[in-house]
Amino acid sequence: MNHSLSLGASREAALEHAAALVAHAWRDFDSPRESETEISELLINELRKPLPEQGSDVIESLDAAGDVLDASLAQSRPRYLAYIGSSGLEIGALADLLAHSYDINLALDARAATRLEAQTIGWLADFLGFPARLGSFTSGGTISNITALAAARERALPGSRTTGLSDTRPAIYCSAEAHYSITRAAELLGFGRNAVRDIPIDEQRRMQPEALRAAIALDLANGVTPVAVIATAGTTLTGSVDPIAALADICESFGIWLHVDGAYGLPAASAPLTAPLFAGLSRADSVSVDAHKWMFVPKACSAVLVRDAQTLARTFAHDEAYIPHEDDEWNAVDITLEYSRPLRAMKLWLALRVHGAQAFRAAIAENCEQAQHLYRSASAHPRFEVLASPPQLSIVPFRHVLPGCTDLDAHNLDVCARMQRDGRVYISPATIDGQVWLRPCFTNFRTTMADVDITLEIADELGSIGPHDHPPTK
Ligand SMILES: Cc1ncc(COP(=O)(O)O)c(C=O)c1O
Repeated sequence: MNHSLSLGASREAALEHAAALVAHAWRDFDSPRESETEISELLINELRKPLPEQGSDVIESLDAAGDVLDASLAQSRPRYLAYIGSSGLEIGALADLLAHSYDINLALDARAATRLEAQTIGWLADFLGFPARLGSFTSGGTISNITALAAARERALPGSRTTGLSDTRPAIYCSAEAHYSITRAAELLGFGRNAVRDIPIDEQRRMQPEALRAAIALDLANGVTPVAVIATAGTTLTGSVDPIAALADICESFGIWLHVDGAYGLPAASAPLTAPLFAGLSRADSVSVDAHKWMFVPKACSAVLVRDAQTLARTFAHDEAYIPHEDDEWNAVDITLEYSRPLRAMKLWLALRVHGAQAFRAAIAENCEQAQHLYRSASAHPRFEVLASPPQLSIVPFRHVLPGCTDLDAHNLDVCARMQRDGRVYISPATIDGQVWLRPCFTNFRTTMADVDITLEIADELGSIGPHDHPPTK
C-alpha cells in the first residue's frame, strides 16, 4: 500500500469532521436562509490556486470544501424552485458515501450489488405501476431516453446497429414541448434532428393524438419508418402529461414503440390524486424516470425500464475477449450504454427501505398541493397572471403584471434577476408561447406552504419597487 494516499492516523478525525459538516448542512437546509452566501475574496483566491504538489491538512481542506459548498447554489434548500430541482435526500447522501467507498463497478456481475440493483428496479416499477421486465440505472433522463430509443431503433430497423441507417428514413414523434434530450437522441442515434416530428399540443399543452395519427400516416405513405412515439409524462416547461392511453392505442394500431419520458413527472403516477393522468402507462414499451428529481435522492440516479427484457440485449449485447459471459447470462454492459457504472441504485434502495413508499407518495402529493395553492393565490392576486389551466403536476408558471408596464417580458426577466440577486427564493424564467414567465417547480420535500406564499410576496415586492429597467408608463 502507498501510505501517502491513505488518510492513515487522520482517518477517524476526518470522518468525524465530515460528519459534522454534513450535520451542519442538513440543519441549515431545514429552514430557508434569508440570503445567499457571497463568494468571498478569500474563496475566489482559494479557487485560483495552482495544482498543489504537496498535500495539506485534511481537516482544513474539508473546511475549504464546506466553504465552497456553502457559497454554491444548493438544490437541497427549501426555496430552490428553479428549473427542476431535487432535495439531496439525507439517506441518499449517506448511501452515496457508503457506495462510493466500496467503489463497486456494475459493468459486470458484482454479486450482491447486482441483485440490489435488480431489486430496486423492481421496487421502482411497482411504485410507478409499470410492468418492467428489466431496467438499469443511468446517469440521467438524457441517457435513459437515448437508451430506450436505441432499443426502439433496433426493433423498428432490425440489424441497424450493424448496418447503420444509410438506406432508411426513420422518424420519431413527440410533443412540441418534449425535452431537448429527445432531439439529442435523434442526433446521436443517426436519425438526424429532422426526423423528430413535433406534434401539436392542445390547450392543456398535451400532445394531440389525432395530429399524431395523421403525422404517422403521412410518413408511412411516404416510405418513412416510424421508430418510436415519445409521450412526455410531465413536460419540463409546464408539467403537462401527454394522454398516454390514447397514444398507446395509436402505437398499438401501427406497431410502433411507445416510450414515456417521465424523467420529471412519472413519480406522480404513484400518488392517488395524480395517478389518473398516467392511465395507459403499463402499455408503454419503455419509460424513463429520474429518481434524482422527484424521488428526492441526490444526482445522479435515473432509470430506464423496459417491458420486453430482450430488447435491451438485442441493442447493446456484445462479446469482448475481456468480458466473461457465463451461462448465457447478460452482464450489465449487455443492456446499458455505459461500461463502468457506479452503484446508483443504493440511494434509492436505502431511501425506500428507510422511509417506505408511502412517505414518497405523500411528499409528491404535498408538492402538487403547493403548486395548486400557488396557482390559486396568483390567480386571485391583482398583480399576477397565470396560465388558463391549473397545473397538472408541480410546475406553476406565473407573470407579474406591473400596472401600466408596456413590456411585461422585460419586466418579468427583471423581476426574476432581482429575485435571484435577493436570494430569499431562487426561481428561473421560461418562455411560453413567446412570453417570459416566472416558473417555479416544486420537487423538494423540504418546501413548505409558507415558502410558497413568500415566493409570491417577494415577486410582488421586487416587482413593484423601482427603479426598473422598464418602468411603467403613465
Ligand atoms: C422531461 C425531461 N426529460 C429529460 C430530462 C433530462 O434529464 P437529465 O437532466 O437527468 O439528463 C429532463 C430534465 O429536466 C426532463 O424534464
